[in-house]
Amino acid sequence: MAKLNFCLSIFVFCISLFNIQTKCFDERPWLYKHHAALFIFGDSLFDAGNNNYINATIGKANFWPYGETFFHYPTGRFCDGRLVPDFIAEYAKLPFIPPYLQPGNKLFTYGVNFASGGAGALVETWEGSVIDLQTQLEYFKNVSRVLREELGDAEAKALLSRAVYLFSVGSNDYAFPFQTNSSLLYTYSVEQYVMQVIGNITQVIKEIYEVGGRKFGFPNLGPIECVPFLRTMVPAGENKCFEPITPYVELHNIEISKVLRKLQSNLNGFKYSILDFHTLLENLTNHPSKYGFKEGKVACCGSGPYRGIMSCGGRTGVTEYYLCDNVSEYVFFDSAHPTERAYKQLAQLAWSGEPSVTGSYNLKALFES
Ligand SMILES: *[C@@H]1O[C@H](CO)[C@@H](O)[C@H](O)[C@H]1NC(C)=O
Ligand SMILES: *[C@@H]1O[C@H](CO)[C@@H](O)[C@H](O)[C@H]1NC(C)=O
Ligand SMILES: *[C@@H]1O[C@H](CO)[C@@H](O)[C@H](O)[C@H]1NC(C)=O
Ligand SMILES: *[C@@H]1O[C@H](CO)[C@@H](O)[C@H](O)[C@H]1NC(C)=O
Ligand SMILES: *[C@@H]1O[C@H](CO)[C@@H](O)[C@H](O)[C@H]1NC(C)=O
Ligand SMILES: *[C@@H]1O[C@H](CO)[C@@H](O)[C@H](O)[C@H]1NC(C)=O
Repeated sequence: MAKLNFCLSIFVFCISLFNIQTKCFDERPWLYKHHAALFIFGDSLFDAGNNNYINATIGKANFWPYGETFFHYPTGRFCDGRLVPDFIAEYAKLPFIPPYLQPGNKLFTYGVNFASGGAGALVETWEGSVIDLQTQLEYFKNVSRVLREELGDAEAKALLSRAVYLFSVGSNDYAFPFQTNSSLLYTYSVEQYVMQVIGNITQVIKEIYEVGGRKFGFPNLGPIECVPFLRTMVPAGENKCFEPITPYVELHNIEISKVLRKLQSNLNGFKYSILDFHTLLENLTNHPSKYGFKEGKVACCGSGPYRGIMSCGGRTGVTEYYLCDNVSEYVFFDSAHPTERAYKQLAQLAWSGEPSVTGSYNLKALFES
């Protein structure tokens, strides 16, 4: 009987540990020592809810039908369900990585998500309405200070060097000038403009390296000329993608892999993975049925041609919008963002794709290295 009581109390103890697990992880960080943390930077492809907490006049996703598939409530993710970093966290046996600005979020030992819908590498990109990459870097430096205070220098350094730093950035820098007919388009050549974006990204990578980061994951830019909202900028009747943006995207993708290769040969211990989102998204858009989808060009949620008018949820000025019956049939959920089902295929490629499509490492190898 005594034995049974003992077993029961152990059991109850475990249950209560389970119930207060977030608190436990805070104070008894035994689990994180076996996992590489994940720090996430960039734009709406990766934003898990930071924009809920800012004056994001150009983009929020904290209303229905965002989140309808997986979470069953709107989290602020620009998707019906999970994003690429959510799948990556799952494959790496981490919990969902919380947004930095979520109130009460003090659990940094698994990583943090700094991404903000609409953000770019240039401060000018939707300035005042997003957390730009520079500010995301400042937040990260703050987190690294907090980690040093909590864990001590040696352990914080180990955590930061084992962690993976995942970025989705650039698309907004190239789309924004076209969306706003900004004079930037006429002041800079394609080369000058792309090199500013690449220069800013490079600077951020170097500063993270100085703080202790070593492993970087970069999706290349997708064929953004063909996302539904940019198709709406093509004169009606022409069944085409928005070609003026293509030279920027092509040059960016060439230059970002050059920069990463160069950093790997110049910086001790620097490793990277390029995730070829461009090829896979192009394939999904043009041959949806090969990948199990029915529709690759028209979004599930929105209005107008290709449902390219950003009206999903009816909270952005346009109140009438269409929502498809079966989101699994679509590559795009809203006018600018893939569905969870498409993201899952991108995440699987990033995690375990052949090194020929992922740079020197895939993400699995980065996490395990
Ligand atoms: C957000 O917008 C509100 C209303 O326009 C304004 O009062 C507030 O100061 C803004 N907050 C920030 C941080 O800009
Ligand atoms: C730095 O992080 C701490 C702990 O999360 C927070 O209280 C503080 O406001 C942050 N400071 C800045 C400048 O973000
Ligand atoms: C964009 O701006 C340029 C120069 O400021 C102007 O000539 C052009 O008409 C504008 N285009 C549109 C579509 O508004
Ligand atoms: C970053 O971009 C800004 C424009 O937003 C530019 O003035 C600056 O020179 C860039 N920095 C680097 C290192 O390229
Ligand atoms: C894209 O499609 C081409 C042609 O079918 C194929 O060879 C390639 O493996 C595909 N790549 C990805 C990442 O899906
Ligand atoms: C939704 O679409 C997917 C993919 O085409 C299909 O497998 C599934 O059966 C559909 N669900 C319903 C309820 O029709």
